[in-house]
Amino acid sequence: MPLTRKAYRAAILHSIADPAEVGIEASYEYFEDGLLVVEDGRISALGHASELLAGLPADVQINHYPDALITPGFIDTHIHLPQTGMVGAYGEQLLDWLNTYTFPCESQFADQAHADEVADIFIKELLRNGTTTALVFGSVHPQSVNAFFAAAEKLDLRMIAGKVMMDRNAPDYLTDTAESGYQESKALIERWHGKGRLHYAVTPRFAPTSTPEQLTLAGKLLTEYPDLYMQTHISENLQEIEWVKELFPERKGYLDVYDHYQLLGERSVFAHGVHLCDDECARLAETGSAVAFCPTSNFFLGSGLFNLPMAEKHKLNVGLGTDVGGGTSFSLLQTLNEAYKVMQLQGARLSPFKSLYLATLGGARALRLEERIGTLHPGTDADFVVLDYHATPLLSYRLKQANSIAETLFVLMTLGDDRTVLQTYSAGQPVHQR
Ligand code: GUN
Ligand code: ZN
Repeated sequence: MPLTRKAYRAAILHSIADPAEVGIEASYEYFEDGLLVVEDGRISALGHASELLAGLPADVQINHYPDALITPGFIDTHIHLPQTGMVGAYGEQLLDWLNTYTFPCESQFADQAHADEVADIFIKELLRNGTTTALVFGSVHPQSVNAFFAAAEKLDLRMIAGKVMMDRNAPDYLTDTAESGYQESKALIERWHGKGRLHYAVTPRFAPTSTPEQLTLAGKLLTEYPDLYMQTHISENLQEIEWVKELFPERKGYLDVYDHYQLLGERSVFAHGVHLCDDECARLAETGSAVAFCPTSNFFLGSGLFNLPMAEKHKLNVGLGTDVGGGTSFSLLQTLNEAYKVMQLQGARLSPFKSLYLATLGGARALRLEERIGTLHPGTDADFVVLDYHATPLLSYRLKQANSIAETLFVLMTLGDDRTVLQTYSAGQPVHQR
């Protein structure tokens, strides 16, 4: 079969390292008039248009965007598919919010047709927002994960998901048992893990809704299959933390519960971590685990302010999560807008290049996928977005005043949202056109 080669000419920017480790200037590559060449779903070249165009055969199609920025596709390290229908629910903090809005909404996923319908809406919404990879919570029903993976597979997306394991402290209509949660997860792993660009995540909801037996079996799954992910929540809300102490009095703290059941590791992602202490950050880092920073959710549910500098001090991997439906936007641009405010309120700053890192390479590292996604390095998957400088009249006017790529990037993150995403490409194929 002949190679399918295409080229994309625009301003091109990608993160190549963590600014916390190498400083801002060494953390990115920027081509003011750049060229990205894609062959058979992978990036084959990246550089200045003036240098690369000369070597390109005359018949290669070139898409030219004079007023746009190409970046890697965004990576959302924490989101809930079955909460799409209740995003933006009024007036509660975590535990009441779960009981009042979340559990009833998730119960609808017992119905396969409903799961299929929402999976379709959810994936379109991810792609409209430029998110090409997400680590996704399903509901307790395998139907939710089957629907999601089937839809993701059709578009050859790189996605990670798992069925929630939850065998106590939730309504009967929404619980599994330690044994059924294990068996259903196993069947989903056999069916989907490693198929195309799909990966499975063992998904105990959070410590309060799993018995010790269920947490044991979650740990067992991780030992039975290579390269499985593990996702859960941790230390999001003060009431939640007190509850965990009551439920597990023999453990030293929240993280120690997960540690005891061997749920920490290189492919483990813990959402929130708003109230983690130094020792817990150190232990997470030591085990190669990651935290998903979910600012819109932490504001919306009144949970608190994530301490990114503390995570950086411990070299803890941090990705960005929207946490829809506790979070209020599918847009990682809007999520970064809020992340900046979280830092401001703690007397710190979030540079635009650290922001870009969190939404791309940082997320890829949190997921141990940096060899495949998160940058535009040749050889990696061609998952990228085209951001439109003229997406709205205000953005267009504001960007005319910008004097540097740093300023342009920062304004894209403060004013940008789904409207900013002109096109999304996954494995070299267009999967969203605004
Ligand atoms: N903790 C346990 N379940 C959830 C959930 O669905 N959303 C959030 N934000 N936190 C949780
Ligand atoms: Zn969540």
